[in-house]
Amino acid sequence: MKEQLKEIQVTFSQRLREVNEMQALENLRVEYLGKTGVLKEILRGMGKLPKEERPVMGAHANEVRDALEEAIESKRQELKDRQLDAKIAKEWIDITLPGKKIQMGHPHPSTLTTRQIIDVFHSMGFVLEDGPEIDTVANNFDALNSPPDHPSRDLSDTFYFDEVNLLRTHTSPVQVRTMMKQKPPIRMISIGRCFRNDALDATHSPMFTQCEGLVVDEGITMGDLKGTLEQFVKLLFGADTKSVFRPHNFPFTEPSAEVDITCFKCKGAGCRFCSGSGAIEILGCGMVHPQVLEYCGIDSERYTGFAFGMGIERVTMLRYEIDDIRYLFENDQRFSRQFRR
Ligand code: DAH
Repeated sequence: MKEQLKEIQVTFSQRLREVNEMQALENLRVEYLGKTGVLKEILRGMGKLPKEERPVMGAHANEVRDALEEAIESKRQELKDRQLDAKIAKEWIDITLPGKKIQMGHPHPSTLTTRQIIDVFHSMGFVLEDGPEIDTVANNFDALNSPPDHPSRDLSDTFYFDEVNLLRTHTSPVQVRTMMKQKPPIRMISIGRCFRNDALDATHSPMFTQCEGLVVDEGITMGDLKGTLEQFVKLLFGADTKSVFRPHNFPFTEPSAEVDITCFKCKGAGCRFCSGSGAIEILGCGMVHPQVLEYCGIDSERYTGFAFGMGIERVTMLRYEIDDIRYLFENDQRFSRQFRR
């Protein structure tokens, strides 16, 4: 039996040396030390030994078992260390290598203008309203006192889906929607995309963005309109910017006006930027036509209002001295990078 144990130790050591991974080690452990393992087999044979030899042999067998267990444990530790070393080698990072440059995103110039316009009107107590880009002929034209024979209804200007629906040609239908759902006092702006069947060139785009404004209450006058828009222009373009109200015509306002501001490039002296006039047209406005108020269910005897509309792209082009509207839609990084702050 002693020889048998010796033999077991020798072959075990050989086998152990060949073990390279945890599962093989565990298999070997079970094979030698498990419930039906080699060692247990030997111990079972002890009964056949003479009585006086049994304790000596028993003690020896225990020593062998302890030795095997110890060898397995140290092999396990060795494998673990090896695994860790391999992991470290694989995940090693050279922290001295130069990093990848992260390109930071930034707002589009039209977004910068939009945010600033919203800020200015917020500060004057206006709320932001929203409306759909696909609207009805009724909201886009009828409600706004634009009769069917009005030039802006010309097929070449408007994208129609059918007789009822179109792509809105301006944000003015949002004032209609607001007046229809809300009683005065009303003080709102709305900013969104509009569509017209225009050929794309340096100053026209079939898709553009407008900001619409509307105030309706008792006793609203042209003075309120002027005060509000003069203040707006100063906050957006600088305190020394002057506005001039020039008579104009819109079907939905009476009287109507266009607002010119002093050219901020030449301060009114006349330059290439303002085509020598010293002034730049910036928005359309007027007192809401009584017919529009009535159409929307507002008593035009009791209430009056003013409205205005301006192109976001136009304002953006003026503020950043951009001479072609197409830059604002092309998403050319060489252009938009210039607005990183
Ligand atoms: N809807 C006009 C346009 O598209 C802009 C406009 C002018 C809106 C005067 C208004 C306004 O509300 O009062 O050209």
